[in-house]
Amino acid sequence: MTDASPAIMPTYNRLPVTFSRGEGAVLYDTDDRAYLDGVSGIAVTNLGHQHPRVTEAVAEQASRLIHTSNLFHIGLQETVAEQLRAVTGMENMFFCNSGAEANEAAIKLARRYGDQKGIASPQIIVLDGAFHGRTLGALSATGNAKIRQGFGPLLDGFQRVAPDDLTAIETLAAEREDVVAVLVEPILGEGGIKPLGLDYLLGLRALCIEHEWLLMFDEVQTGNGRCGSTYVCEQLGVAPDVLLTAKGLGNGLPIGVCMARGIAAEQLGPGDHGSTYGGNPLCCAAAQAVLTTLAEDGVMQQAAVIREAMLSALHDHLSDTGLVKEVRGRGLMIGVQPNTPTDEIVNRGIARGLLLNIAGGDTIRVLPPLVMTTEQAGELGAGIAAILNDVAQQEGHQ
Ligand SMILES: Cc1ncc(COP(=O)(O)O)c(C=O)c1O
Repeated sequence: MTDASPAIMPTYNRLPVTFSRGEGAVLYDTDDRAYLDGVSGIAVTNLGHQHPRVTEAVAEQASRLIHTSNLFHIGLQETVAEQLRAVTGMENMFFCNSGAEANEAAIKLARRYGDQKGIASPQIIVLDGAFHGRTLGALSATGNAKIRQGFGPLLDGFQRVAPDDLTAIETLAAEREDVVAVLVEPILGEGGIKPLGLDYLLGLRALCIEHEWLLMFDEVQTGNGRCGSTYVCEQLGVAPDVLLTAKGLGNGLPIGVCMARGIAAEQLGPGDHGSTYGGNPLCCAAAQAVLTTLAEDGVMQQAAVIREAMLSALHDHLSDTGLVKEVRGRGLMIGVQPNTPTDEIVNRGIARGLLLNIAGGDTIRVLPPLVMTTEQAGELGAGIAAILNDVAQQEGHQ
């Protein structure tokens, strides 16, 4: 369905629902019908809708000061930077407004690093199936040919290889002198919830050290508690040189960050990059509340509890129908790949009051908030099972 109003450019295939309010893991439409939220605004409202701490911080900040620009010191931006420093060990941060912009900052940073090394045309290694955003730099880094199609000329300077293939990267290292960085999502999100192997990531880390390349992690989707830790790199024990985030950091307020350490933290100086709104007091008030809440005992641990409740209900209601080919992901970034077609699943979810999403064409992407109760998680798992059973029956699978 396209937009009802011709005044909206029709860039989205919108679902036929409008929400008017939300509470925790539930959204209510304009007729006050409740929907269990298995999408979290695409990995954004990780603390659920109207989280009291975030709402209070945003309302209080909005009542005092929303924006000043980066011409001046912004105390809350510095506070959030210190919070991020404490949890990630990264040394400094550039604040922007979205995931794509965080990727743009990283691309510029890597190119500047190449420039400092005297490399005329620095190359960044990126992966097939990756998603880094829709602005031209981020789009050029993105591995989905369909969404790049028709927007040329795109940026040069990206070397694309298959995920989890370390040999392909070793080959590039042997053949080229101009590589400066590797940019990866530790779990490919839009690409279908595909985790990169730990051995592969450790191999990348070692190769980056050996060749003096920057290892850059795009944790726009995996981050901010979604996978059970503030960022997945903590769990994996792989420290990137550049760490990108956005989405869940503001729980709905637009904020993105490009974090850097070591030589990466020395690349951008005054006048090299900027953003009018980046890290403004309002968005940073939200981010501060999010990071403070995530640091509390038990909040991120819920990711494993909710995942288990959802998957065990899914399993119980499907028993051994064989309708699920694979379950992937970490914490509350869950990919359920069915053996059935996926084209009707989202609409069937809406009919049942469940919000779901499809990623990579063939995988149900389930992104519940950390505040979902185990009972709601059970309902979500049972609901997905019921949808798969319905689709299979219609397709004559059973
Ligand atoms: C891994 C990743 N990087 C970047 C982006 C782009 O973020 P934004 O839509 O905020 O520009 C996304 C969005 O889905 C993403 O999943």
